[in-house]
Amino acid sequence: MSNEEVVAKTAEFIKNKFANDSTGHDWWHLYRVWQLSKHIASKEKGANMLVVELAALLHDIADHKFHGGDMEIGATEVGKWLRKIYVDSKTIEHVQNIVRNISFKGVDHKIELNTLEGHIVHDADKLDAMGAIGIARAMAFGGAHGRLIYSPDIPIMENYEFEKTNTSNSTGIHHFYEKMLLLKDRMFTRTGKQMAAHRHKYMEEYLKEFYSEWDGTL
Ligand code: ADP
Ligand code: NI
Repeated sequence: MSNEEVVAKTAEFIKNKFANDSTGHDWWHLYRVWQLSKHIASKEKGANMLVVELAALLHDIADHKFHGGDMEIGATEVGKWLRKIYVDSKTIEHVQNIVRNISFKGVDHKIELNTLEGHIVHDADKLDAMGAIGIARAMAFGGAHGRLIYSPDIPIMENYEFEKTNTSNSTGIHHFYEKMLLLKDRMFTRTGKQMAAHRHKYMEEYLKEFYSEWDGTL
């Protein structure tokens, strides 16, 4: 099978698998991360595109949060699929390493992504939680979890600890401070940093508009 066929088959597999997903990782998130990854890779140069495209498509294949905390579940599923379509073991291991480290959450787990391909897919995934799309995703997530878009009764803390603040006492706007505004400083690639700066500025402007409308002054 050519690399193009391997990528096309994987996209089709993932599109079917995530057609009705309600965990926040629907097919279109994976599609956007795939497109973003290709764009970043085209600017950064030198990346193994088969690894980049497969890792982008497969990065959310199985979330440990829904599998009894099994931290290896993503890598296991990746291995099963890629062996089935006869991808070579070196490529499989690299993709597994990226999937394993991108999905790691929690303070005890330092992100161990040390390849260009890993950095590219990581930045693409984080960019999709920023900007216009990131705002829409946060509001959709909030709605699905019974949260308000905003409440001035809930104080906004000064220092949120990244990915440690999934409390019920939160809103869509609070999520900006919990995560979305912290992402620009976590990018690895030059292109990722540039794109994050643009999306960050947009989110700051959005917040200004939001608060003015809230107060009825705009
Ligand atoms: P990722 O795909 O980066 O691993 P998550 O699984 O943590 O992200 O979240 C999926 C989407 O839902 C992201 O856009 C994220 O910002 C959003 N989200 C996660 N937690 C919250 C929350 N507490 N409130 C609002 N949105 C959230
Ligand atoms: Ni993702």
